[in-house]
Amino acid sequence: MTLETFLTETKSSLESALTQSFQQGVSDELTSAIHYSLLNGGKRLRPSLVRAASDLVRAPDGLWLIPAQALEMIHVYSLVHDDLPAMDDDDLRRGKPTCHRQFSEATAILAGDALQSEAFALIAGAEALSPRQIRDMVRLLAQSAGARGMVGGQMIDLASEQKTLTLNELSDLHRLKTGALISASLQLGALCHDSVDVEILARLARYGDAIGLAFQIADDILDVTGTTEKLGKPQGSDLAAEKSTYVKLLGVDGARSEALRQIDCAKNELTALKLGHDSMLWQLADYIIERDH
Ligand code: IPE
Ligand code: IPE
Ligand code: MG
Ligand code: MG
Ligand code: MG
Repeated sequence: MTLETFLTETKSSLESALTQSFQQGVSDELTSAIHYSLLNGGKRLRPSLVRAASDLVRAPDGLWLIPAQALEMIHVYSLVHDDLPAMDDDDLRRGKPTCHRQFSEATAILAGDALQSEAFALIAGAEALSPRQIRDMVRLLAQSAGARGMVGGQMIDLASEQKTLTLNELSDLHRLKTGALISASLQLGALCHDSVDVEILARLARYGDAIGLAFQIADDILDVTGTTEKLGKPQGSDLAAEKSTYVKLLGVDGARSEALRQIDCAKNELTALKLGHDSMLWQLADYIIERDH
C-alpha cells in the first residue's frame, strides 16, 4: 500500500469512528465546539502511527481505532488549549478560526477539558480490549499527556519565550510537548496485541521518540518556510511570540540536518526490527520531515 492510500484510509476510518463515538453532551454549544475542533481537518498523523504499529505486531483488525481516537482527542484538546490567548494566542487552526475565536474562550477551555475526559472514557469502556490492555493504555496515555509529558512540555515552552535555551534544553522541551504523544502513538498501536514482545515495544518507543523530536523540528521550520494558507495556521507565530525553536538556535539548514539525523536514528530501530524502505513506518518517518504542512 502506498503512504498516500494509508493516510487517506486511516483518516476516513478514524473520522467515521469519531463521528459515531462522540456522545452528545448536555450543552449544544459545547458539543458544537468539540465537533468543530475534532472533525474538521488535521493530518491524523498520530492515528496513522497507531495503525502502522498495530499492523506491525499483527493485532486484531480494527482494534487500533480505539487508542487512535483517544490519542486524537488528547491531541485536539492540546491544540485547542495551545491556541488560547493565555498560551500561543493564535487565531487560525486547520484553516479555520481557532476554537476560542469561533466560540468563546471559556467554551474552548471546556471543550479541551471534555475531550481529555472522553479520551480516557473511550479506552476504559472498550469491550474489545482486555482489562490489562485497558490498564496499560490508560497509564501510557495519561503519562505521556500529563505533567511529565505534553502538559509539562507546554509549561516549559511558555516559560522559555524570550529566552535562549541550550540545544539539550530545547530537545528535552520538544520531546515532552510533542514527542511524548507521538511515541505513545506507536506504543499504543503495539499494545493492541495482548502479549506484545517487549523488545518490539522498546524499539517502537525509541523510534517514536526520534520521529517525535523530528516532527517538532519540522514544525519549527515550517513556521518560517511555510505559508499560512498551506499550514492552515499562522506562519511566523513562533517568531512573533519569541519562542525557543530549532530554527532560532541552528538556522533553517541546521534544524533540517538535526531533523534528518533523528530520522536516521528512527530508521536504525526499524532496521533492527528487519523493516526496510517499503515498510509503512519507514515511509512515515520520511513523511514527517518532507511534509509541507
Ligand atoms: C501540530 O500538530 C502541533 C504540534 C505538535 C506540532 P499537527 O501538525 O499534527 O497538527 P494537525 O493534527 O495535522 O492539525
Ligand atoms: C505544539 O507546539 C505542542 C502542543 C502540545 C500542541 P506548537 O505551539 O508549535 O504547535 P502549533 O505550531 O501551534 O501547531
Ligand atoms: Mg505552543
Ligand atoms: Mg502553537
Ligand atoms: Mg509550531
